[in-house]
Formats: sequence, C-alpha cells, structure tokens
Amino acid sequence: PPLDECLSLHDFEAVAKAIMPIKAWAYYSSAADDEITHRENHLAYHRIWFRPRILRDMTKVDCSTTILGQKSSMPIYITATALGKLGHPEGELNLTRAAGKRGIIQMIPTLASRSFDEMVDAAIPGQTQFLQLYVNRDREITKRIVQHAEKRGIKGLFITVDAPQLGRREKDMRTKFEDEGTHLQKSRQDQLDRSQGAAKAITTFIDPGLSWKDLDWFKTITKMPIILKGVQTWEDAVLAAEAGVQGIVLSNHGGRQLEFARSAIEVLVEVIAALKERNLFPNPNFAIFVDGGVRRATDVLKAIALGATAVGIGRPFLYAYSAYGEEGVEKAFQILFEEFEMNLRLLGANSIKDVVPSMVDARSISLH
Ligand code: FNR
Repeated sequence: PPLDECLSLHDFEAVAKAIMPIKAWAYYSSAADDEITHRENHLAYHRIWFRPRILRDMTKVDCSTTILGQKSSMPIYITATALGKLGHPEGELNLTRAAGKRGIIQMIPTLASRSFDEMVDAAIPGQTQFLQLYVNRDREITKRIVQHAEKRGIKGLFITVDAPQLGRREKDMRTKFEDEGTHLQKSRQDQLDRSQGAAKAITTFIDPGLSWKDLDWFKTITKMPIILKGVQTWEDAVLAAEAGVQGIVLSNHGGRQLEFARSAIEVLVEVIAALKERNLFPNPNFAIFVDGGVRRATDVLKAIALGATAVGIGRPFLYAYSAYGEEGVEKAFQILFEEFEMNLRLLGANSIKDVVPSMVDARSISLH
C-alpha cells in the first residue's frame, strides 16, 4: 500500500510483515520464549485510563521537550536496535536522516550494521545522538568505543544491563535453522551455531561479569551522562540513583530477554513511588526513561504522566523503514506528532510539563 495509507504505527508492522524477507522479520519481531512479556508490554498500556481536564484554552499546544539537556520535538527517542540492514540496505541511516529532519534523538546501537562514524557523519549540525553500549569482556575495546563516541559528540551513554546472556528467541532460531537447512550435513558445532539464530552469533563478546562495581570505572573514562538501560525493579532504580548515574531506562529489551519480566509502565509506578519515598524524585539530574510496546502518543503521555522523562520506541521505526525507507520513518514521526498535538488538547495539557499524575487513572497497575 502507498505510504499515505499508513494511519498508525501498527500499520507499518502489518506492511513490514507482508513484504520483509522472513529472516529479517523473524529477527525484528521475535521475543523471548512464548512472547508473553512482549505482548504485555503493549497491553499494559490498555489498563491505564485518562482523567482529562477541560476549559483550559487549548489553542496552542507544544509537544517539545528536553532529554538529557538536549532538545527534542517530542518526548520520544529512537531506541537502539541491532542489525539495521536486515530490513533495508541503508539500514540505520534511514533513522539518522529522518531523525535529523524531525528533531528526534537517535540512540546508536553497538551492533549497528552501518558503522558508528557513518551514522554520526549522516547527522546534520546540532542533531543529537546517544550511544547504546554492550560492554566488551575486553575493557580496552569498550574504552576506545566510549571515548571515540564522546569525541564525536555523542550526548549520552546507555549501558545495556539486561543482557548478561541473550534471551531465547525461537522465531529467530527457527528461521535461521530452516533458511540454512540445506547445509545441515556439517559438523555438530556448526549446527549448534546455526540453531541459535541471527542474534546469538553476534553477541558472544558481551561481558556477563558486568557489575555495579564497574560503574566507577565508566565515570573515569567519560564525561558523557551514563544511563543504565534495562532496569526492572525499584530496588535497582534506587541503587542506580545512589550510584550517581544520570538516568535509567525501565525496559525488558522489547520482551527479548527475561520472559515474564513485567512491562516498563508497570515497573515505572513502583520506581517512582520508591524514589519519592527517598527524596530521589523529582530530580532534574536523574532521568527515567521507559521503552517497550509503545505504539501511540497516548501510550507516551501515560508514561509521562506517571513520571517518565521520555519514551524509547524500537520496532515501529524498523518496520517503517523496512517497508518505506527513510520516508517511512518520517511518516511515523508525523503520525506521532499529530497524535501528540491532538491528545494534548483533548487531555487539557498545553505542554509536556502540564501532563501530570492526576491526568491518569493507573489504579489497575499500581502496587497498593
Ligand atoms: C532490540 N533492543 C536492543 N537493546 C539493546 O540495548 N541493544 C541492542 O542491540 C538491541 N537490539 C534490538 C534489536 C531488535 C530487533 C529489537 C526489536 C530490540 C531492545 C530495544 O532497545 C528496546 O528495548 C525495545 O525494542 C523496545 O521495545 P519496542 O519499542 O521494540 O516494542
């Protein structure tokens, strides 16, 4: 279908599924085990309802905000997703270019299929990019990556902390297996490797020994803000705040790691409560992000109301460019932008900072 028939972020998924090579679809769409967490990530938003306010002069609304001190046209960012070329030859550059045009921040993945420097070079002056880091067993390599990123103007270091081992994504594993089924007469070791799917092959360098103690070292090698991506409990949110990092991403990795991990929006409620109790929230120097299952501006507004600084979105942008290239991503931003403006008006909030806790009824996901 032509691009202008895409009316919501869901539409890109349907088109991508129909046209993408099966291997790419399997890698992008897959999640751990029975994909219960993956489904819950989106469904959890359905349990939160709005309490809109009226008669507040909604002539003008503004959905821009700042994320780690950087301007953003909306309270969203493109989160890191590996292997961007599987869906489209330009890969992650589709994201860089569209993000530059629309004032959106891109988080560059360690495992991108375009080079880091290509993505930085493709950014326009003033465009903000973050870096997602998988920490290598060889810390010298990690140090080189981090310091190069800082030198190239990266504005935030997101250390992934939910992947000491890769989750089991059977859709991905099966496809790989079938795809190379004709070569199965090789050694057993080979068979084992193939059966792990696209993801496993590229992640053996990740250090499962990473621990809280490593954070001090990161602070000595960079001045970039450090954010922990993949926090899932209030206990670890408090530890992160006390460790002096600049933020956390409440995330279960798009449901691709621990099956039956809770949705980020549910975790957000307990995290904010625990931080408040300890006078650690609100804190302008400690940002709280969420990601996973966000498909509508209303999802984002719910997270903002409950205390999030901004929200990461992954698969929808992959699907958008796999189907329509860079233009698809721009269209996805346009759709979200229009949804934001309309829903801010209907909610009675002139700006993102006017989206407050009393505007949502989150009783069905709160702890108490
Ligand atoms: C991811 N994600 C991810 N996270 C990370 O820290 N490093 C990575 O290399 C990847 N790679 C990756 C690949 C693909 C195909 C997906 C779908 C996801 C997780 C990602 O940053 C984010 O947590 C989720 O994608 C958010 O969920 P949605 O928006 O995709 O539902």
